[in-house]
Amino acid sequence: MIQHTTSLEPAGRPTPRLDTDRREVQVLNMDSDPYQLASKASDQLIDIYDGRIPSTFVVLGSGWDVAIEHMGTTVEEFSADTLIGAIGSTVPGHSSSIRLIDTEDGHILVARGRVHLYEGHDPSQVVHVLRAAIGSGPKNVILTNAAGSTDPERGPGTPVLIADHLNLTGLSPMWGTIPPDGAAARFVDMTEAYSQRLLNVAREADATLTEGVYAGFHGPEFETPAEITMAKTIGATLVGMSTVLETIAARHCGAEVLGLSLVTNFAAGMSGPLAHSDVVETAARSGQIVGPLLADIARRVNRAADSN
Ligand code: HPA
Repeated sequence: MIQHTTSLEPAGRPTPRLDTDRREVQVLNMDSDPYQLASKASDQLIDIYDGRIPSTFVVLGSGWDVAIEHMGTTVEEFSADTLIGAIGSTVPGHSSSIRLIDTEDGHILVARGRVHLYEGHDPSQVVHVLRAAIGSGPKNVILTNAAGSTDPERGPGTPVLIADHLNLTGLSPMWGTIPPDGAAARFVDMTEAYSQRLLNVAREADATLTEGVYAGFHGPEFETPAEITMAKTIGATLVGMSTVLETIAARHCGAEVLGLSLVTNFAAGMSGPLAHSDVVETAARSGQIVGPLLADIARRVNRAADSN
């Protein structure tokens, strides 16, 4: 049974939601058409916006949450699992809520937390909220995460721009159901998975930001030292358990992607043993610094979109 969170009701208009019985039928399963479900959830979001259409969608991974406090005023907030087809995260430290934030540079939609493959979800579920969000308006997506670093020069607390990725999950969110646009949308170009334009916008906010290649593993186990040697050899500077499927889905939906990792630890084999609690602790400590930076970047991205 999926629990509803009732404490996140927006103050004014109640969030459109489904009664529990109907919801259970609509949660994604192997037989659902993920694109149709995402489209229904997009309509639900558009209803919530009530004309306040965001241009940017931000996914906050571990450590990046503080950004919310610096972006602007929250005008709507609701639990992610109240969206048609969506499920909540089961990971400690990953609260799953969605906020519409009114900033000086227009509205931004923010998902606090995400669902991961390693929670037992299929790729369509992992990207469901993102597909719904893009279908509701935003064509700029900012994906943030916590990551291990394979680079001895970039230690815990360092924010790194994602220049490209290695999808080592062996999975794709585009696997299966034929997309609604037909054969033309069966394949997607990943040459510029991460937008050069958005990388430039981020560098305008902080010229000292460096770039890395993010290798997405399935998890939930941390990598072995041998896997890290492999990842480094094939070009990875960052390793994590999220983001790559979301980037694929975002590109498939026609959005531009900016990716930001917060290094929470040196990758396996480079220093001591790894523990999720250490990752969460380092992420929380570093968040005070990278949160305001992300808020600045998100507003700049939104401003650029709104002036187009
Ligand atoms: N590996 C995978 N995922 C991670 C790591 C790591 O070292 N750190 C934070 N998320």
